[in-house]
Amino acid sequence: MHTQVGIIGAGPAGLLLGQMLHVKGIDSVILESRNQDYVIDRVRAGVLEQSTADFMDAMGVGDRLHREGMRHEDVYVSFGGRRHLIPLAELTGGKAIYVYGQNEVVKDLMNARLATGRPLHYEVSDVSVHDINTDQPRIRYRHNGSDQELICDFIAGCDGFHGICRPALASALGDAAKFYDRTYPCGWLGILADAPPSSDALVYTYHERGFALYSMRSQKITRLYFQVPPDEDIRDWSDEAIWEEMLARMTTVDGWKPNVGPILNKNVTAMRSFVAEPMNAGRLFLAGDAAHIVPPTGAKGLNLAAADVLLLGRAFAQFYRESKTDLLARYSCEALKRVWKAQRFSWWMTQTLHKFPGENPFDYQRQLADLDYIVGSKAAMTSLAENYVGLPIDVAF
Ligand code: FAD
Ligand code: PHB
Repeated sequence: MHTQVGIIGAGPAGLLLGQMLHVKGIDSVILESRNQDYVIDRVRAGVLEQSTADFMDAMGVGDRLHREGMRHEDVYVSFGGRRHLIPLAELTGGKAIYVYGQNEVVKDLMNARLATGRPLHYEVSDVSVHDINTDQPRIRYRHNGSDQELICDFIAGCDGFHGICRPALASALGDAAKFYDRTYPCGWLGILADAPPSSDALVYTYHERGFALYSMRSQKITRLYFQVPPDEDIRDWSDEAIWEEMLARMTTVDGWKPNVGPILNKNVTAMRSFVAEPMNAGRLFLAGDAAHIVPPTGAKGLNLAAADVLLLGRAFAQFYRESKTDLLARYSCEALKRVWKAQRFSWWMTQTLHKFPGENPFDYQRQLADLDYIVGSKAAMTSLAENYVGLPIDVAF
């Protein structure tokens, strides 16, 4: 079997790349180790930057996002018991964010893939990559009980943080590969609740008990988080205790609080920052979480995956259309510029809004001053807004 681009992983990065390549008339085969329902049901991101929404539109997969997603022109930052509005659109020349679950993004992309008739194989196992330093790299895997080999022009490693592509890159590059890593001494306990939103914008809260985030998925479902120790066992938290803690952190002096309802899903996520550099080795190119992880506080993970794909898809298109390789050669360097800015922003949001063990009252006052400065200075607020809606990127392809 031969394809132009062999894509490993059918999360947002792999599916977006498959769609972009299809629009450009480039063949791909997507290989996914899980089954379709598992990939759809994972409760993860909820916020799309303006440019991610524009990118989906440009690929013809944005219709449902505009029908069912929620465009938010504002976000709140809450501390000292008060919510402060950050008017995102007003500060960024009309840019906004879209609240639309990753589950929905993935569903739209899977349907689009199905409509193209191009291959997407689920439940593949024993995936490995070979000959990445030649112009015929290969992917070996098992599917439906038999061993397969896919000969490719290129391999796109879109297999997330725990995939096989980054280790393959590491062993191919040896000392030439660098990995930057930071773990945080906290995690997020997240819930999906059958309760209609009580706010028309997300609320990032800094409370003396720690961080909390109010988000949503639809007119009926809310998504809430609060900071816990990284190794917290979700079984230690009854639904009643979770609501008590959510309300304790989120309720403001004007009486605003989340609506309470049955909890549909609950889990704990660890937080880390991670960057692999470079993002390619020979003809293996990484995109999305396979190459970098951000703590969720900046809502950047899925958006960075989309930004990588835009650059990588453009580079493949240039290769096939013009037989040129300069965009492929520059891919890692260009992608990493945005990655590091998103790392900085996500780290800054995390360290400003969380309580860390070992901090003292000085640190708490410093964090409050940071937040007070943000909401009191148009320049500081604009800086937050332009990072939050997403730094400029040209989505034309
Ligand atoms: P993944 O979604 O991890 O997809 C990789 C795929 O590869 C998976 O389907 C996996 O099964 C498959 N795979 C793995 N190994 C193999 C293999 N060997 N062979 C074949 N397939 C393989 N981001 C935002 O932008 N905004 C947010 O609001 C946001 N909130 C978040 C909240 C939480 C709680 C979490 C955990 C994450 C959040 N993120 C957010 C981050 C976002 O979910 C990820 O950045 C995004 O899923 C990355 O997409 P990806 O396709 O690169 O990787
Ligand atoms: C979410 O809705 O899941 C969400 C929103 C904003 C974040 C992280 C997660 O920063």
